[in-house]
Amino acid sequence: MILSGRHSQSIAAALARELDEPLAPVEFDRFPDGELMAQIGQTDGERAVVVASTPTSDAHLELLQLQDAAREAGFEQVVTVLPYMGYARQDRAFAAGEPVSARAVARAISTGADRVITVDPHEEAVCDFFEPSATAVTAADQLAEPLPDDLTDPLYLSPDAGAIELAETVRDAAGGGEVDYFEKTRHSDSDVEVTPSDAAVEGRDVVVVDDIIATGSTMSEAVGVLDDRGAADVYVTCVHPLLASNAVTKLSRAGVAAIYGTDTIERPQSEVSAAPAIAAALERR
Ligand code: R5P
Repeated sequence: MILSGRHSQSIAAALARELDEPLAPVEFDRFPDGELMAQIGQTDGERAVVVASTPTSDAHLELLQLQDAAREAGFEQVVTVLPYMGYARQDRAFAAGEPVSARAVARAISTGADRVITVDPHEEAVCDFFEPSATAVTAADQLAEPLPDDLTDPLYLSPDAGAIELAETVRDAAGGGEVDYFEKTRHSDSDVEVTPSDAAVEGRDVVVVDDIIATGSTMSEAVGVLDDRGAADVYVTCVHPLLASNAVTKLSRAGVAAIYGTDTIERPQSEVSAAPAIAAALERR
């Protein structure tokens, strides 16, 4: 059976269709003191697949509860799918006294899981924080699908060197074009500087590809630079469209033609599904 977290209802339903497995009834509640209760109804089967992105701290807690409820209900195997793993970007202590948050949450999640699958983690090395280690799958090839098929001399750019493989994957799935990347310097959460690549952009359609759009600072800076340099239409696409706070407004003000993402985070921009990639990983074993 598929057990859906609060933030993963569409992707869980898509996965249930892909696997032809039933969706378990799930209820989410909150006690007057603020404590959460994620509860499952009538279930049966040997394997529970808990599908729960964790973009909030509450979502982490609800995931732990769903894993535990699945054990209580008697499932022999509990697989945990993290379409989006929150806290994964804090994958090391960047300054003295900081935690490795990704390791802390991975340890907690591991205690309730026989197997863990996640989608395009910020750094694949976070998979090693799980015990046993998690499997990372990619949904980046899906990101080509919503792009217009008549892009003019397309250039696929990543906002930093770390996302260039994603840009290459989208380029390959879209059928060709040049790939390059910006140099990025982050001064604070909302103050990001991107240094243009050498690629000529004037009159060309540009697709900027990243793993996550969070505050939109990185992408809006990139869109602004491309606009200043005479690019034609600039599209931004990402696996995890967190789009926190005023990110959409920032991107729109910067002149973006469209924003696309997958359903690892459920937003109006979630044009494509990561469910087929997850289903394929589940079926491999
Ligand atoms: C960081 O290196 C990631 O790949 C993204 O570029 C980053 O998380 C985006 O964050 P924001 O939208 O807040 O600039």
